[in-house]
Amino acid sequence: MPDSSSAGHTFSLSALSDLLSDKDQTPAVSEQEAAQIADDTIVCWCNNVSAGEIRQVLADGTATDLESVQRCTRATGGCGKCLATVTAIVECELHRAGR
Ligand code: FES
Repeated sequence: MPDSSSAGHTFSLSALSDLLSDKDQTPAVSEQEAAQIADDTIVCWCNNVSAGEIRQVLADGTATDLESVQRCTRATGGCGKCLATVTAIVECELHRAGR
């Protein structure tokens, strides 16, 4: 699988795929890793929520924290195994926005 570059960072898509596709584990996800997840990547398989949808509801003010992201997008509302990834994306975006 090819590598992807974003904002000067190179991240192995195969490593990300391994991280996101192993639904039996809930790996810790750093904010740095979260920042490198492409907008079109599905991060919540149960409710088909992409990283971009999470970023969008935070950017447009529809959501202001993890709880409201969960309400707006339904991310984490199924098995819950995406919680670490969704949390890291939310924290990353809030820090980027200075919130
Ligand atoms: S993968 Fe998000 S709730 Fe199951």
